[in-house]
Amino acid sequence: MFDTSFKGRDFITILDYTQEEVIKILDFADELKAKFKAGIPHKYLEDQTLFMIFYNQSLRTRNSFEAGMTQLGGHAHFLDPSKIYTPALEGDEVAYSTERVSDVARVLDRMGHGLSIRIYGDPVGWQNGKANRIVREFARWTERIPVINMECDLYHPCQGMADIMTVREHFGGFKGVKFVMSWAYSPSAHKPLSVPHSAVIAAATVGCDVVLAHPEGLELNDDVLEATRKRAEESGGSFEVVNDMEAAFEGAHVVYPKAWTSKYNIPPIADAPDLDATQALFDANKHWICDAAKMKLAAPEVKYMHCLPCDRGYEVTDEVIDGPQSAAFDEAENRLHAQKAVMALTMDR
Ligand code: CP
Repeated sequence: MFDTSFKGRDFITILDYTQEEVIKILDFADELKAKFKAGIPHKYLEDQTLFMIFYNQSLRTRNSFEAGMTQLGGHAHFLDPSKIYTPALEGDEVAYSTERVSDVARVLDRMGHGLSIRIYGDPVGWQNGKANRIVREFARWTERIPVINMECDLYHPCQGMADIMTVREHFGGFKGVKFVMSWAYSPSAHKPLSVPHSAVIAAATVGCDVVLAHPEGLELNDDVLEATRKRAEESGGSFEVVNDMEAAFEGAHVVYPKAWTSKYNIPPIADAPDLDATQALFDANKHWICDAAKMKLAAPEVKYMHCLPCDRGYEVTDEVIDGPQSAAFDEAENRLHAQKAVMALTMDR
């Protein structure tokens, strides 16, 4: 019997879903992956349309949503904001160049079956949380169709689902799995906080022993840290924050090293974005790289994970990402199956 309890629900953050619901989505994703591999049709969304608005670049997200909709029997429209009237909040409008989010949302609500949005960084002037407000504004004005977050500045929930799906495939479950989300060096400070936020939330929700590692000055948002602690308590997992990459890697089963920007150098904490100051902080921490020496500190069965694209030679060495401990491409593959589960469960059918 198909579970209809998710129908019409937005998918903006994993915090809107209970542990039981997250596990149901993962189970369905596994089922869809098995069907895909066996060539068994699974057209749960026949003739349905997903609108995808991308304010930022994408390889994995665009192609996994688009291929996923085709495999579910529907179609995905790619919408470039510069080729429509760029959806904007009240107060940010420019005559005949933008269109108020409330109007765009109500138009697309009447034409299709799902709406997905990617927005962070430059399109919102690096104002921490503004992109999430825009995604939520779309959700406020769509009555019939769910809004799926394809990555805003606070969350990347579809990535988080693919991350824990990959963990479960490799370790058979979550209990006792030490999941390390670590900051790693990048020559670019233009990296949102969404991936680490969603990764720690997802891993804590399902009961991993989550360790967050970063240099001082690269703390995640306070409400996310609080929510992750609460999720870990509820799930029987644990959550710890450390400022030492080597210490974090000790005995780890999963290491997820990637860069994210400093919340202290963007609004609302700073008056204006200062990514040069963040880059200086980054440059003082070039030794935060995932290399073979650090992988030796981890458990023998450790898996390297990354949402991709990664900064090779900075965040991680080629030896690690291309080596036998890498699960980064399993993780990318699982974006397809996790998102198909989210779409099939939340969109009309
Ligand atoms: N991981 C991820 O979201 O990749 P893209 O930026 O290519 O979509």
